[in-house]
Amino acid sequence: MPAHVLLGAQWGDEGKGKATDLMGDQVDFVVKYNGGNNAGHTIVVGEEKYALHLLPAGILTPTCTPVIANGVVIDLSVLFHEIYTLTSRGVDTSRLLVSANAHVITGYHTTFDKVTERYLGKAKIGTTGRGIGPAYADKISRVGVRVQDLFDEKILRQKLEAALEQKNQILIKVFNRKAMTVDAVAEELLEYADRLHPMVRDTSLLLSQALDEGKTVLLEGGQATLLDVDHGTYPFVTSSNPTAGGACTGSGIPPTRIDKVIAVVKAYTTRVGSGPFPTELTDAMGDRLRDVGAEFGTTTGRPRRCGWYDAVIARYAKRLNGVTDFVLTKLDVLTGLERIPVCVGYRVAGELHTEMPMTQTDFHHAQPVYEELAGWQEDITGAKSLEDLPKNAQAYVAALEEMSGAPFSAIGVGPGRDQIVAVRPLA
Ligand code: GDP
Ligand code: IMO
Ligand code: MG
Repeated sequence: MPAHVLLGAQWGDEGKGKATDLMGDQVDFVVKYNGGNNAGHTIVVGEEKYALHLLPAGILTPTCTPVIANGVVIDLSVLFHEIYTLTSRGVDTSRLLVSANAHVITGYHTTFDKVTERYLGKAKIGTTGRGIGPAYADKISRVGVRVQDLFDEKILRQKLEAALEQKNQILIKVFNRKAMTVDAVAEELLEYADRLHPMVRDTSLLLSQALDEGKTVLLEGGQATLLDVDHGTYPFVTSSNPTAGGACTGSGIPPTRIDKVIAVVKAYTTRVGSGPFPTELTDAMGDRLRDVGAEFGTTTGRPRRCGWYDAVIARYAKRLNGVTDFVLTKLDVLTGLERIPVCVGYRVAGELHTEMPMTQTDFHHAQPVYEELAGWQEDITGAKSLEDLPKNAQAYVAALEEMSGAPFSAIGVGPGRDQIVAVRPLA
């Protein structure tokens, strides 16, 4: 059986959690392949609302095995806090599996994240402050700590000694902070070792065997295409690869086993943190989208920047990820508008761009070129099929689909699990 990838097409918070949850009972494994607790996925099941950060959305589906794969960076205190919170609400978390190769976020990573942002001042990235960048930096610099190191104290201490020798110099001399001791950090990590041990697997092998046995695997991306460290709006990005290629390296599943790439895209655009955003609305319309769409960060509570749909970005996401299906979310948020502008290109220094400009300088200066579509007034939150949508909403969806370059296979019309227009099967 093949594996599917589900990822974000824009700057995150497209509704990936809800889309994954929707597919939960059609898949056997949901695998988080990148990022860490910088992610925030809100999932509404009946009257219950769950905010997940580190755990894959599949944790809410009893028949599904959630996996935290090698590409993720894990803050163990957050992992166990999230497990505790869900367990106390009656969710069975006992199926969770964790890769031995995943890296761990330690106290010095979160400290470095916060002080680096402070030092950047006005040029700050606006990170979530969860230690994500510094943990990935250590991974690439080969001074990271992996889950498997927690089960060999001698090795763990050796690694911490090597890492802290340099970091303490920076903490003291550059950041004017106290040094951290190997004992303190080791103790903090080892506290979790016994509880973590039963969950730890060679998840790449396990997933490969599962696929051989005919099981279905869904690879769930955190963050999104434009936050990708290689293909996003660098440096205003996260430190991992949320794009489809990252699903392979982040899980150990080869590209030849993937048959579908589902991209979740919002009917408008949002962004948290700093960086360019051509269709951003800083006026009352931006406030309206934020209020109606409840656009406040699940992780940091920050108000999200809001703007119109950008078809250049959707096409870019289609091309980079090889998108086979889009899930369009939050169409209901646009109800009540007379006209809805959609960005079809950018003007940069008088020149029209219909693809992402090659340089960040050009993207910073990109002026959106809009095409206006007619709005609708009818409530669509109960729609179950395309025919249930008002004519103008159908036309809006059809126009976006045409501009974005891949079929819109499902359309979100509200936060609830059942508030979805299913156009064609996703799994
Ligand atoms: P994620 O990070 O991509 O999983 O997205 P978030 O959970 O951070 O943000 C998406 C928000 O939109 C959540 O609060 C969802 O409950 C909500 N949501 C998802 N789909 C829809 C939809 O179709 N309509 C509305 N109104 N809300 C939605
Ligand atoms: P989900 O999975 C939206 C943003 C941060 C910041 C930048 C770098 O919920 O879509 P980091 O802490 O990762 O080093 O911050 O990336 N960011 C997100 N924005 N949704 C997310 O996740 C995000 N994860 C990180 O706001 O601009
Ligand atoms: Mg989110």
